[in-house]
Amino acid sequence: MARSQWGSRLGFILAAAGSAVGLGAIWKFPYVASQNGGGAFLLIFIGFVFTLGIAMMMAEMALGRAAQSGAVGAYRKMGGKNWVWVGYMGVLVGFLIMSFYSVVGGWTIAYIIKSVTGEVISADAKHLGSVFGSFVSDPVQPLVYHALFMALTVGVVLGGVQKGIENLSKFLMPALFVMMLVLIARGLFLPGALDGVAYFLNPDFSKVTGKTVIDALGLAFFSLSLGMGAMVAYGSYVSKDTSIPGSALWVVSLTTGVCILAGLMVLPAVFAFGFDPAAGPGLTFITMPAVFAKMVGGQLFAVVFFILLMVAALTSAVSLMEVVTSFMIDEFHMKRVPAALSMASLMFVLGVPASLSLGEWSGYTLFGKGVFDLLDYTTSNILMPLGGVLLAILAGWKIWPEIHAQLGGDRGERIVWMPAMKAISCFVAPALVGVILVYNNL
Ligand code: PHE
Repeated sequence: MARSQWGSRLGFILAAAGSAVGLGAIWKFPYVASQNGGGAFLLIFIGFVFTLGIAMMMAEMALGRAAQSGAVGAYRKMGGKNWVWVGYMGVLVGFLIMSFYSVVGGWTIAYIIKSVTGEVISADAKHLGSVFGSFVSDPVQPLVYHALFMALTVGVVLGGVQKGIENLSKFLMPALFVMMLVLIARGLFLPGALDGVAYFLNPDFSKVTGKTVIDALGLAFFSLSLGMGAMVAYGSYVSKDTSIPGSALWVVSLTTGVCILAGLMVLPAVFAFGFDPAAGPGLTFITMPAVFAKMVGGQLFAVVFFILLMVAALTSAVSLMEVVTSFMIDEFHMKRVPAALSMASLMFVLGVPASLSLGEWSGYTLFGKGVFDLLDYTTSNILMPLGGVLLAILAGWKIWPEIHAQLGGDRGERIVWMPAMKAISCFVAPALVGVILVYNNL
C-alpha cells in the first residue's frame, strides 16, 4: 500500500512548522534568552539554528523519506540493528517531553480562563507574579488543566481530526503571527521598553558561559523539534517531488522568526513593567497580561492570545504524542485507541510530579533540579543534542549517498551547500555537540 502523503508542499511545511512552532518559541525562548543575558544568547542560538539546525532538519526529513517509515523503522532499515536504539531513544524523549509539555499546555488553558474572568488583566507586576506563582504551585488546579490538555491532545490524535487541525493552523498560524506583531507594536511604546529591546539585541559576550552555549543548543533542538524523530516521521510522508531543502529552510526560518518575535514581545514588557528578567518559566505568562492591561480591548486580546498559544502548543503536542503512539502500534502491534490512551495516561502520571515540583514538592531535587527542570534539562540539553549527533553520524558516514540523493543530489547538478551539509554531518555536529555535552555535563 502506498504510504499516505501530504496534500502539497505547503501542507507539509505547515504541518512541520506546526510541530516546531509552539511553547518552545513563545514560552521557553523568551525566558531562556532573558536568563542568559539576551543579545549574545540570541546570536549563538541563531548560529546553531542555521548550521546544525537546518542540517539536522534536512537529514531527518531525508532519512524519513528514504526509509518510508517513522524514526524507529527508519533507523532500523537504514542503519541496521545497532541503530534502532537511536529511534527508541527518540520515542523516550517524546514521552518525557510530552509529560511536562502538557503541564505547560495546561497553563495556557488556565490563562484563557483567567483572561475571561479578568483575573490577569492588570498592570501590577507584583499581582501578576503572585497569580502565576500561586497557580502553578497549587497542588490541584494545574493538574486539572494538565489532564485537560492531555485529553485534548489525545482527542486530536484519535479523532482523526489531524487534517482538520492542519487546515485550522493554516489560519491560526498567520493569526498568531499578526497577533504577535500587534503586541510588539504596543509593547514598544511603553516607557522603558527600549531597554528591553537593547537587552535582547545588543550582545554582551562577557555574559557567555558554558551554560549559555548549551542552553542555546538545547533550545535550538527543542524549538525545531529535532533530535527525537518527529521530523523523520513527517519526512516519510513527503512526496518525491517536494524539495526537502526548500521545505526545511522554510520551517527553520518560520520557527526562528517566531522565536525572535516572542523575544521582542516579552522582553520590552519585562523592562517596562520592572519584572525580573531572570524570572524563569513564568515570564511569558506574567508579562503579557501587563501589556494587555495597557491596551484598548486588552481583555479580548488576552483571550485570543492565550487561545492562539494553546493551539500552537496543541499542534506540537500532537506530533509528540504521534511519535509515541505510532511506536506502540508499529512495534507492539497495539491498536491505535489503546496505544494512545495508555501512553497518554502514563505521560499524565509523569507530569504530576513535574507539576508538583513547582510547588509542594519543590524540596525534592536531584542534581539541584526538581522533576520539571530535570525533565526539561535532560531532554533539551542532553538527549536531543545526542540524538542529533547520532543522526549526523549515520547520515554523514553511513548512508550519505541516500541522504545526498534525497536532498536533490540525484539530479546531478552541483549544489553549492552540499559540501557544507556533509561536513556538518561528518565532523562539525559530532565534534561541536560532543564538546558542549561533555563540557557541561561532566
Ligand atoms: N518544537 C516544539 C515546541 O517548541 C516541541 C517539540 C519538540 C515538539 C520535539 C515535537 C518534538 O513547542
